[in-house]
Amino acid sequence: MAHELTPETPAHESGRAAGAKDTREPIEQPPIEQRRNGLYPEISDELAQSMRSGWADTELHGLEPIAQAAHTERRRAALSARFPGERLVIPAGNLRTRSNDTEYAFRAGTEYAYLTGDQSHDGVLVLEPTADGHTATVHLRPRSNRENGEFWLDGQGELWVGRRHSLAEAARLLGIPAEDVRELPGRLREATGPVRVVRGHDAGIESALTDKVTAERDEELRVFLSEARLVKDEFEIAELRKACDATARGFEDVVRVLDRAEATSERYVEGTFFLRARVEGNDVGYGSICAAGPHATTLHWVRNDGPVRPGELLLLDAGVETTELYTADVTRTLPVNGRFSAVQRRIYDAVYEAQEAGIAAVRPGALFRDFHDAAQRVLATRLVEWGLLDGLDVEKVLELGLQRRWTLHGTGHMLGMDVHDCAAARRASYVAGTLEPGMCLTVEPGLYFQADDLTVPEEYRGIGVRIEDDILVTEDGNRNLSAALPRRADEVETWMARLRG
Ligand code: GLY
Ligand code: MN
Ligand code: MN
Repeated sequence: MAHELTPETPAHESGRAAGAKDTREPIEQPPIEQRRNGLYPEISDELAQSMRSGWADTELHGLEPIAQAAHTERRRAALSARFPGERLVIPAGNLRTRSNDTEYAFRAGTEYAYLTGDQSHDGVLVLEPTADGHTATVHLRPRSNRENGEFWLDGQGELWVGRRHSLAEAARLLGIPAEDVRELPGRLREATGPVRVVRGHDAGIESALTDKVTAERDEELRVFLSEARLVKDEFEIAELRKACDATARGFEDVVRVLDRAEATSERYVEGTFFLRARVEGNDVGYGSICAAGPHATTLHWVRNDGPVRPGELLLLDAGVETTELYTADVTRTLPVNGRFSAVQRRIYDAVYEAQEAGIAAVRPGALFRDFHDAAQRVLATRLVEWGLLDGLDVEKVLELGLQRRWTLHGTGHMLGMDVHDCAAARRASYVAGTLEPGMCLTVEPGLYFQADDLTVPEEYRGIGVRIEDDILVTEDGNRNLSAALPRRADEVETWMARLRG
């Protein structure tokens, strides 16, 4: 968005008309937005007048509510019931400047999107307490005013950033009355009564509330909204399925171009997956980990600037985020040349077996940590068999946690709109809690032998393997939402051979 209408007049030039006489008289500074756009200083009255009119009425009539409107209403009702008599403020967040007038890609705050189905930057949901609950209002940027020039002179004018929904259209789509967000800070400042805000998204809104909120009470709101998302509704489950299906296609894309990754770098893998994420969804749900060779032993390898070499493994941990902001989180560890070596296969099979044990432990009524314990037991058993633990038995290894030198991380986490979903939930409801139908979690054991680990045989060094799937807890056990991608070593090889023709 670096186009300037008058490029010959740099935006940073001092407030003086190009070519105008240097009268040394101070002249009035134009609004900052005009200067940002590089429009200043050559706006004739005739041009300003011209831009005011001659535009068609494009108001959209007969819009239907968004698909999840009934679900967001139910989610707001649960929130209302938890905090009777209190004003609740849930902001979407603001754009973040990258430099000058360019911004980072915006992603609406999870709580706001969950409760409204909307993703507008600067949006704020407010639940106003009433005698018998709350009324919800969504506060949004309205359509740009053309009379006062905002339409084309403001950096957020629709001429620059595209048409927004009118407040009436937004209200119809979301099923929530909509008002102009620019009036909200003043109203919040004046309002009385108990109030809570979801922090961390909108500094302007927080500053309007600064004397009225406390960190402790706001945290209770955040915790509630995190725990509310532990059990997914039908809409959310369908979104997670979509995310997993698109992710499976993204992995297939990568396998098809592994020869080009070999000729370039891990970035080719990252770019290939990203293309799928942008075409089928909103984005990747987190920075893709495209870790070839020894990089696979670095848990969050997102630099992705290393070589992809035949004979080594590629650990790809990536997820498509849908347009409604639900993400998959899937890992496959693939032999770059299509066949596992004997030692790669030995390590891979141990991780596969651990994942099988972990997935089998996911069912309603099980403890959240059961699947972790099941997977860790398998890995510890293999590590003991391979002679890496000084002759200790498996029970002792598990008691002391010594396997963790090579297993490194927990075996999974909740998944949803955030890749590490429900992260503010209390221990008792999540880590120390019990699985229920509708929960969705990853099962992702791994073994990582660092390249400089002198305690393992040389042939193990620099090998990292993780297998990660997205598992929905059902009434009768679980469903693997990412089962479209093969996991067993021989099936992975057959699948790769087929895709690479
Ligand atoms: N991709 C991050 C994780 O697997 O948790
Ligand atoms: Mn992952
Ligand atoms: Mn994960």
